[in-house]
Amino acid sequence: MSLVSTRQLLDEAAKGGYGVGAFNVNDMEQIQAIMEAAKETQSPVIIQASRGARAFAQDNYLYHLILAANELYPEIPIAMHLDHGNSYETCVSAIKLGFTSVMMDGSLKPDGKTPSTFQENVEVTRKVVDYAHERGIAVEGEIGVLGGIEDGHGAGGSGLDHVTDPDQAVEFAELTGVDSLAIAIGTSHGAYKFTKKPDGSVLKMDLLIAIHKRLPKTHLVMHGSSSVPKDLQDIVNQYGGKLRETWGVPVEEIQLGIKNGVRKVNVDTDNRLAITGAIRKVLWETPEKFDPRDYMKPARAAMQKVVALRMTQFGQAGHAGDYKPISIADMAKGYANGTLVTKPLVAAK
Ligand code: G3H
Ligand code: 13P
Ligand code: ZN
Repeated sequence: MSLVSTRQLLDEAAKGGYGVGAFNVNDMEQIQAIMEAAKETQSPVIIQASRGARAFAQDNYLYHLILAANELYPEIPIAMHLDHGNSYETCVSAIKLGFTSVMMDGSLKPDGKTPSTFQENVEVTRKVVDYAHERGIAVEGEIGVLGGIEDGHGAGGSGLDHVTDPDQAVEFAELTGVDSLAIAIGTSHGAYKFTKKPDGSVLKMDLLIAIHKRLPKTHLVMHGSSSVPKDLQDIVNQYGGKLRETWGVPVEEIQLGIKNGVRKVNVDTDNRLAITGAIRKVLWETPEKFDPRDYMKPARAAMQKVVALRMTQFGQAGHAGDYKPISIADMAKGYANGTLVTKPLVAAK
């Protein structure tokens, strides 16, 4: 099976009423963890890499590691996605490398920090859509801005600073023709999302539901969706870490999102916590060890456990073999002849 488009995975998820986790990777062990979790749960997968990941691992290593995953797990549909592309050029370079979908995060200017205007966002996203669809590649856009900063990317501040306006979401989807739409509903990237278990005053599920009602057929994407579980925080802190008390997005809220149009759920921080906790534990308990495999194996297993659990909770488990992959060349034909509808279905206010 060749790499498949995220658009196909999300269309299938919409038919089946489930969500698909999009897990960030930077190295071989993270890819292995995701693939073993996918095999264990028979899930389709979205593997995503940020600009930081591409710089850390180098494009060719990343691409060939994902191709290796594709060879080793032929029964699992795999999409390779660019997370938070900051410019047209970044998206084009990802498409040329072989990514099967890209996120053009035009909610921020190319510096990846300053919120852009609506017009700027529409223009750059539309330009990426035109380039990508001609080549059969799917595009995720973002309207509204998430909180927090990861690896220098993000506007910083609270997740409530720039939540998505439903009218703008509709206009944005219509003007750009994106395949999926990331919205800001109060979440942030990283571990420090909420200071207590979030309620509707900080995690705006009502806003998500309102956007879904206006755009019932648009695949919504929830970024900043790590749940930051207490047990993972505790392991890090028990073995010398210094995490402040914090809360993430409860899984039941994500599941509510999935019932209301969320098809792609971005998770990175939970895996980072799992990996770090496992490595700290080995180094703390057995300081005489120095073979990296002694701590990378438990780290990989800890990430696999988190990913398998999320795959089950998001509902993608058991769906790996549901459908035949559409080639990227056929996706391009679908965009060209209008079979792959890109105009959103808009419901009245
Ligand atoms: O969007 C944030 C993801 O967690 C990726 O983070 O830019 O530090 O690789 P990164
Ligand atoms: P978390 O930091 O909540 O894992 O979010 C990851 C993300 O949104 C990647 O784009
Ligand atoms: Zn994100």
